[in-house]
Amino acid sequence: TDRYAIVGNPVAQAKSPQIHAEFARQLGHDLQYLRLEAPVTPGGFAATVDAFRAQGGRGVNVTAPFKLDAVAYATEASDAARLAGAANALTFDGARVRADNFDGVGLVNDLLRNQRFELAGRRLLILGAGGAARGALLPLLQQRPAEIVIANRTAARALALAHECGAGAVRGCGLDELGGSAFDLVFNATSASLSDELPAVPAAVFAGARLAYEMAYGRGLTPFLRLARDAGVPRLADGLGMLLEQAAEVFNWWRGVRPDTAALRRQWAVPLV
Ligand code: ATR
Repeated sequence: TDRYAIVGNPVAQAKSPQIHAEFARQLGHDLQYLRLEAPVTPGGFAATVDAFRAQGGRGVNVTAPFKLDAVAYATEASDAARLAGAANALTFDGARVRADNFDGVGLVNDLLRNQRFELAGRRLLILGAGGAARGALLPLLQQRPAEIVIANRTAARALALAHECGAGAVRGCGLDELGGSAFDLVFNATSASLSDELPAVPAAVFAGARLAYEMAYGRGLTPFLRLARDAGVPRLADGLGMLLEQAAEVFNWWRGVRPDTAALRRQWAVPLV
């Protein structure tokens, strides 16, 4: 039996154990998937992962607040992990530890495969400039949108993140500077929904948008999605598809075969009405 785990703090709410158990069942793989709560102390993440490796662990998923620790722990990091400054998965091979980040590719796969939403040539607005926005940027840019605007409550963070992407299709601004711009797709990558708050975004940004995408999942119609719906956006999505596609990519990275997410997407979908 191959052993994997998710490391976080807290970790009780994590869906990964159920997702990977379902993928393993679907594909007939024999694996065990644990929850590991690492202490939030200096070295706490490393000690927890060291112990898991000593017990034969093959890889881990990493969630808050350890995604940066995971990059530091690795001996090799993918471009996605380095650019996001964060890893959501590690794989162990003797002394070698590889880090990668599949959150962004999970988002893009959900949009292209499940939502059938073409990104090439589209105008995209990302609300937020924290870890979630950072992880999404590069994979979205690779789809060649016409432009990406990053708008953040603290404008300086959005400007800095846009600047890191170099000259080109990415622009940063404050939430209060959005008046008058139009977008095809608006993402909420702020953590506001986790406390049932609404990023202070003018309803006008939704004019003409065809999809509003909430990166949080399992929270139903968040204040962001409600604002989008009331502004007439015809399609709403939450982050369930992104979570499941991310997990499918990780499973493939670990096990060499890509599970299908359709059953779990149906089973866990929360009505957005
Ligand atoms: P995460 O990893 O979830 O992205 P983070 O790095 O702490 O977490 O970033 C949180 C993001 O949500 C930031 O963009 C934050 O805006 P600030 O940079 O101005 O702090 C944004 N955010 C959190 N609560 C918000 C709220 N109530 N309204 C608007 N933006 C909010």
